[in-house]
Amino acid sequence: MSKVTVVGAGNVGATVANVLAHKDIVKDIVLLDIKGDFAKGKALDSWQQAPIDYYSSRLTGTSDYKDTKGSDIVVITAGIPRRPGMSRDDLISTNAKIVVSVTQSILKYSKNPIIIVVSNPLDVMAYAALKASKLKPHRVFGMAGILDTARYRAFLASELDVSPKDIQAVLMGGHGDTMVPLPRFTTVAGIPVTDMIAKSKLNKIIKRTKSGGGELVKLMGTSAWYAPGAAAAQMVESIVKDDGRIFPCSAWLTGEYGKKDMYLGVPCQLGKEGVKKIISLKLNREEKKLLNTSAKAVSGVINDFKAMKLV
Ligand code: NAI
Ligand code: 2OP
Repeated sequence: MSKVTVVGAGNVGATVANVLAHKDIVKDIVLLDIKGDFAKGKALDSWQQAPIDYYSSRLTGTSDYKDTKGSDIVVITAGIPRRPGMSRDDLISTNAKIVVSVTQSILKYSKNPIIIVVSNPLDVMAYAALKASKLKPHRVFGMAGILDTARYRAFLASELDVSPKDIQAVLMGGHGDTMVPLPRFTTVAGIPVTDMIAKSKLNKIIKRTKSGGGELVKLMGTSAWYAPGAAAAQMVESIVKDDGRIFPCSAWLTGEYGKKDMYLGVPCQLGKEGVKKIISLKLNREEKKLLNTSAKAVSGVINDFKAMKLV
């Protein structure tokens, strides 16, 4: 794989391109934005970092979809972010139109790309990209779980005063306040997290994780970009390297976890074809209940999208 396009050169998109360039695993990275020469500037700045940080991936910026021709992977970050007081779902009326039109424009120049959606409301925008692209569902999926799990892992690392490297965790469900961090599948260097932390402290961390995006919106007046950008770049890396890594991703379900015809965060093995496998965990009754609540919330917003009749 040699060409990755990132659509949207704002906070998240520019970070995806920059982090990906540092990984030095693809020949061409194209950054596209609707805003005049904005993407050209961001890509040029990032390219001028190459001699300092030693990477060869060639970054270019554009506002013309012709330059995205033959992309192997496309990351869609175009759209408006949350402002204080807004939920991710409040973004649907603007972002659905953007994601549908971006996807259609991409498909004019790339026949069978893998699409990673980042724009919010995430699970629903992945649905929009699938319907607009008509690609096979394993080639269209969303980034959220890596970010949400990273927040959970970072909070745990601070609380336990350990390296975040040693914390492994699974988090499922939609990218919203109903997301489902799973303590039963959380370890610290292989040790169950429940052996390391009091239940009340763990519950506080779970609560903080669920509103982790909102916490940053409150602090900055807009949504986060460093961790989200790094998370999307990590997905691209695992696809390019085809190294069998497993991440929580928003994937198309066809009966897994009792859900179908929708996107939801589930553990996925990624590979050169996109989602290679969805891992089916044996959830207990409480975990299933939480996942069902989250799926219901996502389905409601998918229905709002369907009612917009954009595709
Ligand atoms: P931003 O406002 O910094 O950048 C968005 C960019 O999209 C702007 O440069 C804008 O010109 C561009 N854009 C708008 N319409 C376009 C179109 N039709 N074609 C091409 N480019 C277009 O926003 P930011 O912070 O980068 O966030 C982008 C999206 O990612 C938001 O919807 C945000 O909610 C979402 N997000 C999702 C996360 C996740 O975990 N899935 C995490 C963080 C943000
Ligand atoms: C986040 O979780 C807003 O989805 C974005 O930071």
